[in-house]
Order: sequence, then structure tokens, then C-alpha cells
Amino acid sequence: MENMIPHSRPTLENVNLHTWGEMLESGHLARGVFCERLETLFIEKILGTTPDSFRARSVQSGTQALHVGLWALKLLREKDGDTSETLEVIAPTLACGALVQAIRAVGAKPVLCDTTMDGNLDINQAVSAITPKTLAVLVPHLYGKPIDLGPLLETGVPIFEDCAQTLGVETDQGRVGTMGRLMMSSFYATKPICTGQGGIVATADVDLMNEIELLCRYDGRDDSGPGWNANLPDWSAALAIPQIEHFDQSLARRKAIAEFYSESLGDLSDRIVLPEATALGAHAWYRYVVLVPNDSSQWSERLHSLGVEAKRPVFLPQHKIFDLPGHFPLAEDQWKRSLSLPIYPSLSDEERNEVVSAVRAVATELN
Ligand SMILES: Cc1ncc(COP(=O)(O)O)c(C=O)c1O
Repeated sequence: MENMIPHSRPTLENVNLHTWGEMLESGHLARGVFCERLETLFIEKILGTTPDSFRARSVQSGTQALHVGLWALKLLREKDGDTSETLEVIAPTLACGALVQAIRAVGAKPVLCDTTMDGNLDINQAVSAITPKTLAVLVPHLYGKPIDLGPLLETGVPIFEDCAQTLGVETDQGRVGTMGRLMMSSFYATKPICTGQGGIVATADVDLMNEIELLCRYDGRDDSGPGWNANLPDWSAALAIPQIEHFDQSLARRKAIAEFYSESLGDLSDRIVLPEATALGAHAWYRYVVLVPNDSSQWSERLHSLGVEAKRPVFLPQHKIFDLPGHFPLAEDQWKRSLSLPIYPSLSDEERNEVVSAVRAVATELN
């Protein structure tokens, strides 16, 4: 349909041609000073810390960031004398398939957990699933909502924060991305910082980052360890830098749209469950996810016919994709009922109003 309001739209308003031009004039396209600038800015502006205490490495995708991060944890474990045959990685089933793909790519076994009512990993279940074979717990902060790591922090098990959907948020437990042993994010086209494809992995642990650095390159090395040429090119970094510089404005615009939706749809709360700002701290509003009473695909179809693209925020729970065992009643229920409405900085006020009118019309029709 012409004039369809898309579910996602890259946030490129702040991409000034200055940085891009500078990159072209430098005559350097591969990994170089722009990637280094991106990594420093990411540490300072997104993680709210300093390059003295944190290190970041840009890579070609979020999945690759998960892969090199898990592999580096495995290498350090081996150096500590652990020769376990099968390692395990704990993760929520309600997340994209990239998590299990990365877990399998390091030869580990995925141990999936259910979610809580807000869609994030059930931390208590994750704590119960820890064994001596646990390499890490992968914790995505879904939809922009920071997860309360609570008892997981006390276990000492490596926590790998997946911040593909939640960046720049301060919580009672610290800034998102700095609470665990390491973090990653994605720069995919729909993400809060987007370069089309890309990702980043960061940690305060120097030994871990040294392993990650080696895994990202084969050149200039005479050892036979794995190295995957995982570099993000400078031309992608030049797209990301201005977005990071203006990230606060993007967060503010997302928050304003979320507040508008919550005010405008508040009287439908007997029919749809609206998202709440988390008790733990702020919300990055990457997604505005409502729970409808029945199958959300009916709602998507009706909204589509009214010119609004709304989707399930997770394509399929991972246990369904990979046919993995377990009982995940909340994840299945959330998956079936969740509906993500368009929310991104370039959504105009007019489009925002149209989304509200369409949701109101469908709520009346389908209830
Ligand atoms: C929570 C989460 N983790 C990891 C990824 C993987 O990132 P990428 O698509 O850049 O490989 C994504 C998705 O796009 C994601 O949403």
C-alpha cells in the first residue's frame, strides 16, 4: 500500500555529510580511524564510561559480536585449565535466532529459559539453570527495557548483555551494557544506531578484549589461532558516528512518542495491555509493544489494511526455530499476543496520530 507507515525506519536524520565526506576524503574505506572514533564515542556516550576503563571493538554484525564474545570467554576458560567437553550458554527463548546461532557456532549447548510478564528473561530460572558447564548467560534487554539482573549478579557467572535493542539507559544497577562481564549491540538497519549491517562488542576486561581482538583479524599474526576478519569498514563507522553524537535526541524523541501512545491509548487498557516504563530505570523505547487479548496476527492484518505496519517483535521463540526441549508458557503466550507499533525518531506527529486512530479502530472491531 502506498503511504504505509512502516514498522521500522532507519534513523538517519542526524547523519551529516560532513563525517561521510571526511571519510571519503581520507581515501580509507576499510577499518581505520573512523572505527576507532566510533568505538571511543560508543564507550563515552552510550556506555557512559571512559576508554581507560572500557574497550570496544566494532564488527560486521550483532550475531558476530555474540560469536566472538562467547568464543573469547571460551578461550579464557581453556587458558584457566577448563577442558569441559560441552559448555552451556543460558539464554531466553523469546529472542531472535541470532542467540542460538552464536551459541552453536562456539560448539556450546543452548539452555533456554522462559520470560517474565514483561517479555524479558526470567532471571530466577536462569540462576537455577547454572551448572559448572555454564560458559555464560546471554541477557538481552528486549524492546528498550533494561532487565533487572538481580540474583544473577551474585552468582559470579559471566553475564553477556545483549544490548541490540536497549542502549544509553541508566538503571539502579548501572548503565545498560556495563553491568555484566561483556556486552554487544547490533547496527542492523532497524536498530537504534544503524549502519545497514554491523555490530560492536565491549568489555572492561583487558584479557577478554585481547582475545576478541585476535578473533577479529587474521592479518599481521603468525599464530595459528582462529581469526575471522570481522572488521566493520570505516564507511559504516562514518554513518554511525553522527548517530551516536546525537543519540540523546533520538532517545528523547522515542520517549515522547511512547508517552503519546500511552496517553492516547490509556482508555483501552481493559482491552490491550500497554507497556510500562521499567521500575529499574528508564526505558529506551526501541519498541512499543502492546499485548492484545488474542492472536496478534489478526491485529497486524487489520492495521495493515489501515496503512499501519505493526508486527510481532520476535519472529518466533528460539525453541520453536531450533526444535529445542523445554516448557515456556509465558514466552509462548507473549509471543502470540504481542504487537509492536511503529516507534522511531523520524515518525512524524501526523503518522503517530494515524497509528493511534488505526489501533483504536481495530480495538473496537476485534473486541
Ligand atoms: C536482541 C538481538 N540480539 C542480537 C541480534 C543480532 O544482530 P544482527 O542482526 O546485527 O546480527 C538482534 C537483531 O537483529 C537482536 O534483536
